[in-house]
Amino acid sequence: MKQAKCILDKDYIIGGIDPRLYGSFIEHMGRAIYSGIYEPCHPVADEQGFRKDVIALVKGLKIPIIRYPGGNFVSGYNWVDGIGPRENRPRRLELAWSSIETNEIGIDEFADWAKKVNAAVMPAVNLGTGTPKEAGHMLEYCNHPSGTYWSDLRIKNGHKQPHKFKVWCLGNEMDGSWQICSLSADEYGRKARETAKIMKWIDSDVELVACGSSNTELPSYPEWDRIVLEYVYEYVDYYSLHRYYEPDEESNVADFLASFFEMENFIKTIISTVDYVKAKNRSKKTMYLSFDEWNVWYCKQVKLEKWKIAPAISEENYSLLDALVVGGLLCTLLKNSDRIRIACLAQLVNTIAPILTEKGGTAIKQTIYYPFQQVSTYGRGELIRPILRCPLFETKKYGEVPVLQSAAVYDAEKGNVNLFVLNCDQNEDINLSVNLRSFGDAEIIGHVVLDGPDMYAANSFKEPYKVMPREVQVNRERGNEFTVNLPKLSWNMIRFSIVS
Ligand code: AHR
Repeated sequence: MKQAKCILDKDYIIGGIDPRLYGSFIEHMGRAIYSGIYEPCHPVADEQGFRKDVIALVKGLKIPIIRYPGGNFVSGYNWVDGIGPRENRPRRLELAWSSIETNEIGIDEFADWAKKVNAAVMPAVNLGTGTPKEAGHMLEYCNHPSGTYWSDLRIKNGHKQPHKFKVWCLGNEMDGSWQICSLSADEYGRKARETAKIMKWIDSDVELVACGSSNTELPSYPEWDRIVLEYVYEYVDYYSLHRYYEPDEESNVADFLASFFEMENFIKTIISTVDYVKAKNRSKKTMYLSFDEWNVWYCKQVKLEKWKIAPAISEENYSLLDALVVGGLLCTLLKNSDRIRIACLAQLVNTIAPILTEKGGTAIKQTIYYPFQQVSTYGRGELIRPILRCPLFETKKYGEVPVLQSAAVYDAEKGNVNLFVLNCDQNEDINLSVNLRSFGDAEIIGHVVLDGPDMYAANSFKEPYKVMPREVQVNRERGNEFTVNLPKLSWNMIRFSIVS
């Protein structure tokens, strides 16, 4: 059997993990909102029309922050369409996804829903068709206590207390030709900077996120980032990254599994670019990152049927293999959490999502729900950099890549060390020895594995529990050196309790 070794040492504690690393994203896209979170005629809808079964599944993911309302949608959205009495709200042609937007849900209703799932809202302002002035109006409506046109309108609309949204995105993917009113780097840099000035003058407590490259394949990457950062560096708090992963060809499982390797390179390039601009500006401020869209997405299959209300778009049915890739990506985000403060799994319900609903029917957990839930629940505390020795595997795009991708945390409050490991080996189990040397005596309190005989197996409404994690029997002997078996092609969470 192949062997690997991992040392987890107190001296390699890097620092605290921002819980917002486990954020998500809901866009007015497809059935994410309508018949996703909101379905007033559903048998388990609450008094506001929100599905209680979906609320329960979302709460299970322990998501601290949710980006809203887009995405590409936001670049054509007039937020004023979504406030006030429902009967007066206009129906609009929605150009990002060629749909009809009914505006039944707007910022106030979304704020109410977010409270029900214990999450903060991370609104995005429209910097496509929208103006800096309109972004300021939206902020004034949401966050200003009272006594002005916009804040009093919020009160009239039933929200006496300001929403106090803290983190705001300055537009979405403005570098992409697909974006409504996309901009050049100079145009966006200037528009974002001027919008940031207005927003901070209105509410100095807000934190702002500027749009970085939409992906690594655009010819403008990473020059877009340098130019934009030179405009906004002193005016914003976070710089955003987006990236979706899909296999190039179905047979190329190795490269798909190694998506974490590409994500790591992307993050490193953006950190270098951000730090270059810091040096150039002679700035004292360190720019943190917001990886506010990431997931597996078979984007090439998106088909749009024109002018339907909430048509099913990008309702991925995730396989075990997709869940393994998501596990690897989660490790990469966690490992880089000294610079990444916010990350959003895109998205949350129906559209590219860990939760799928049937209109009028049930809601299920997709395969990717499980690794996200585990890392979001147990990946809290302080980040430990694991010292890992393991075999390599061959990929077409990246050459040789470590066969294990891992991340670890120390939760001092609970006295636990939690280790997450993806085994990319398609043929063999790996025997992993874990050494907790400086933590003293410990015992394994759990080993949960996600694996299976068919890497393309997926959950469905007929078979909602086909792919699920399983608990492995562990030897509870105390010590500080342990051996665990990582099955071939598996995602693993191994938890230790420190006893001395
Ligand atoms: O999440 C789906 C889409 O992907 C978003 O609207 C856009 O920002 C990205 O291209």
